[in-house]
Amino acid sequence: MVKRIAVFASGYGSNLQAIIDYNKNNGLNGEIALVFSNNKNAYALSRANKNNIRSVILDPSDYGTREEFDKSIIELLEGERIDLVVLAGYMFLVSPEFVRKFKNRILNIHPALLPSFKGTHGIKDAYEYGVKVTGATVHFVDEGLDSGPIIVQKAVDISQDESMEDLEEKIHRVEHEIYPLAVKYFCEDRLKIEGRKVKILNKNNIK
Ligand code: GRF
Repeated sequence: MVKRIAVFASGYGSNLQAIIDYNKNNGLNGEIALVFSNNKNAYALSRANKNNIRSVILDPSDYGTREEFDKSIIELLEGERIDLVVLAGYMFLVSPEFVRKFKNRILNIHPALLPSFKGTHGIKDAYEYGVKVTGATVHFVDEGLDSGPIIVQKAVDISQDESMEDLEEKIHRVEHEIYPLAVKYFCEDRLKIEGRKVKILNKNNIK
């Protein structure tokens, strides 16, 4: 069955674009049914528009609590019969209730090799710490911060003369490579969670 995907984005949406492009060029066994944003100025919304994808904006400041805000989002997702939520630069914490409702059906991308450099400044924190290797991680979302089971990771080296901007570019390139793959694995029912570990079924035969 083709999965119905909702992508959540608050900003530029380059990961959204990578997933759209991958679906066009290679196929995901999924359809991006909805782009959701908490920010009416997100460029991700224009990307949705250009690709004829429904977009919905809800402003958290119109709601008393995060739970009330998420309740409206849950209703929206249920109305759209969404199978998978893809957080792609969604700069707003989802509530525990939301996580429970979509248990093992929410993915996130983080711009560092988790469990290192959790939080909102993964690239900068790794760069300033002086690590020689960093990267990107796609993981399931649980109730903690960047703490759910890891699906795919890819490392990049940090050379000693590298600027933050160069590193950012390198990480984004890697993100655009691994996020569509993880989404595809999910949509093909190839992800099996065993405790903290995620097995990718048939990994050696098919990409
Ligand atoms: C990415 O670096 C992602 O890892 C982080 O937020 C950024 C979103 O970028 N969670 P974009 O909006 O997809 O271009």
